[in-house]
Amino acid sequence: MVEPRLLLIGCGAFGRVHLAALHRLGVAAMAFDTDRASAAASGLPVADSIEAGLDRCDAAIVVTPVPTHVPVATTVLLAGRDLFLEKPATETAAEAAALADLAEQMGCIAQVGLYFRFHPKAAAVRRMVAAGEFGALHHLAARFSGVKRARGDSGALLNDAVHFADLLPWIAGEAPVRVFATLADPLGRGREDLAVIQLMFASGATAMIEAGCVLPGRWPDAVVPGAETRKEIIVAGRSALAEIDFAAETFVLRRGAHAPGADGAWLPHHAPREDVAIAGADPVDVVAAELAAFIDAIRTRRTPEAGLRDGAVAPARILDAARRSARETRVVALEEIA
Ligand SMILES: NC(=O)c1ccc[n+]([C@@H]2O[C@H](COP(=O)([O-])OP(=O)(O)OC[C@H]3O[C@@H](n4cnc5c(N)ncnc54)[C@H](O)[C@@H]3O)[C@@H](O)[C@H]2O)c1
Repeated sequence: MVEPRLLLIGCGAFGRVHLAALHRLGVAAMAFDTDRASAAASGLPVADSIEAGLDRCDAAIVVTPVPTHVPVATTVLLAGRDLFLEKPATETAAEAAALADLAEQMGCIAQVGLYFRFHPKAAAVRRMVAAGEFGALHHLAARFSGVKRARGDSGALLNDAVHFADLLPWIAGEAPVRVFATLADPLGRGREDLAVIQLMFASGATAMIEAGCVLPGRWPDAVVPGAETRKEIIVAGRSALAEIDFAAETFVLRRGAHAPGADGAWLPHHAPREDVAIAGADPVDVVAAELAAFIDAIRTRRTPEAGLRDGAVAPARILDAARRSARETRVVALEEIA
């Protein structure tokens, strides 16, 4: 195939990050936005409708508000065009499964915009876990919070927690089997703007995700101007502990383990903190890496990293379980979720 031509659907705040990434990759693209001024401001040729744009393009990048994802993605797939769909792909696991079925029926490549899988520090810690450098994992944690706008299209689950409902199992190399969550609506606007989710894995490892827009942040948000953020993970194993701060671009590692000492005590035998040198990546770098992988999947027709089954259905099942857990105040087994 000659270079694929891409249709950017949605030219708002994150659409502009995609636009910069497309420029960086030197990929030919058109734009469509229901707000024509936003499409025109992209500087790309503007399509009059999604259908007209799809007629002239091989694939689409969907960066529209969450409730529009299913109808827009369905239009793209029914036109037989390959699809890059921003996170959260869908609001429920059932919707994600239906989109995955449709993509497979149509023979389309479909990739979900799971930003952190393409962040060099997350990719590095996953490689280290897979190589056994942490020993058996016992806990992972993610905090994605900060004082920022409460989005009109979603709450903390779909906007923030979804990143880590995907990333933590991806790093651990296993899917959780049980979920317990508390969700709160501290703004009283009818959405869960605070989410605390615990995951339990068959290996015995646990994970915790804290997400929301009503907790203090620490750093300026690279994506949302004027907002403050905290985007941190911890990965803890028998033989190493890691702390990654995505906003500060730090990756601190402590190698070592506890061992029996005197009087029944177990003592930590950990080396000093070590800075793992992994180059920083701004949002345009990361999105360019996501789109480069998408274009490679279009050319090779291979299932992309973060396809709809693992990148949309799997995290949506965890969030469905979190909603049920919070509603019924009990631990929910993933097998209860279709
Ligand atoms: N991966 C990440 O880290 C990340 C970061 C920010 C946003 N996002 C995701 O990107 C998506 C968009 O977020 P945003 O912050 O850019 O929102 P936004 O509101 O700033 O922009 C959305 C744009 O879509 C346009 N639009 C609305 N309905 C449309 C339709 N049916 N067809 C075409 N255009 C339409 C709007 O006019 C607007 O220009 C959301 O799904 C969000 O979750 C992902």
